[in-house]
Amino acid sequence: MFRILEKRVLNPEVKLLVIDAPLIAKKALPGQFIILRIDEAGERIPLTVADYDREKGTVTIIFQEVGKTTRQLGALEAGDSLLNFVGPLGQPSHLDGLKRAAVIGGGLGTAIAYPQAKYLHEHGTQVDVITGFRNKGLIILEEELRQHCNRLIVTTDDGSNGNKGFVTDALKGLIEEGNHYDMVIAIGPMIMMKFVCALTKPYGIKTIISMNPIMIDGTGMCGGCRVTVGGETKFACVDGPDFDGHLVGFDEAMRRSAMYRDQERQSMEHACRLMREE
Ligand SMILES: Cc1cc2nc3c(=O)[nH]c(=O)nc-3n(C[C@H](O)[C@H](O)[C@H](O)COP(=O)(O)OP(=O)(O)OC[C@H]3O[C@@H](n4cnc5c(N)ncnc54)[C@H](O)[C@@H]3O)c2cc1C
Ligand code: FES
Repeated sequence: MFRILEKRVLNPEVKLLVIDAPLIAKKALPGQFIILRIDEAGERIPLTVADYDREKGTVTIIFQEVGKTTRQLGALEAGDSLLNFVGPLGQPSHLDGLKRAAVIGGGLGTAIAYPQAKYLHEHGTQVDVITGFRNKGLIILEEELRQHCNRLIVTTDDGSNGNKGFVTDALKGLIEEGNHYDMVIAIGPMIMMKFVCALTKPYGIKTIISMNPIMIDGTGMCGGCRVTVGGETKFACVDGPDFDGHLVGFDEAMRRSAMYRDQERQSMEHACRLMREE
């Protein structure tokens, strides 16, 4: 069993849990993820390693409550335990040797981009971070990111934080001001990553994105997480989740990620019915 040591509510939809998992904390690197199961009857869900503390033996996960399992996870408290917590899985991000990088986080993607920004900054890269949210109330990790970058720009779709616009507007502004980036790392909704890639391609800026297709085993066996990259089939769980965004088939990936919407809705309705009956 894996004990929850700390719980924080980052915004009404997003929670942070610190888990006692020393073996994973010892090996984890930015870009990697874990697969957890809450209990015997639970489904397996992948979540990114948002942070780790090798000395304390802890791993931090940050998740948005979007369906049955993430809601159940969000209802747990410090002192509760998870049945399975497996990892680190996937390939670590290739972040060494960069002089200057822009890290982009869209919504919850900010939590996944955070360890990348932190690692780059700690290893001497000059890092500009741009994060984007629907509104001010959904902004997460602003103070944490500020400590791990040279410049932080936070945008909101509705302008409620005083900076209206999309992350792509802010990135375009920085590029056109003459800032030269060795790499852009963009993590967030698929549509956001697609538009960041469309922006950076004509400038020839290498752009890495993190794919989050449906994953089942997380070990390359089931084929559920396949994505097309440069015309080849790749498995996000073992070949990724980071890929060269200019080579990713986003339209196919978006179609595949919507395949189980009916089943996910039914599962959520069933869980809500059970909770009401309890
Ligand atoms: C490598 C990777 C890293 C991720 N990291 C994070 C993270 O740090 N924080 C976070 O909030 N979310 C993350 N996700 C997405 C997270 O796994 C899903 O939100 C979660 O599985 C939803 O489960 P649910 O039962 O609550 O919702 P459901 O109602 O089952 O699904 C809601 C949506 O979540 C996605 N999803 C559902 N099941 C899976 C699955 N087995 N694998 C992948 N996606 C699924 C689908 O897009 C689906 O439409 C990550 C996904 C991947 C693949
Ligand atoms: S999750 Fe099964 S092959 Fe990747």
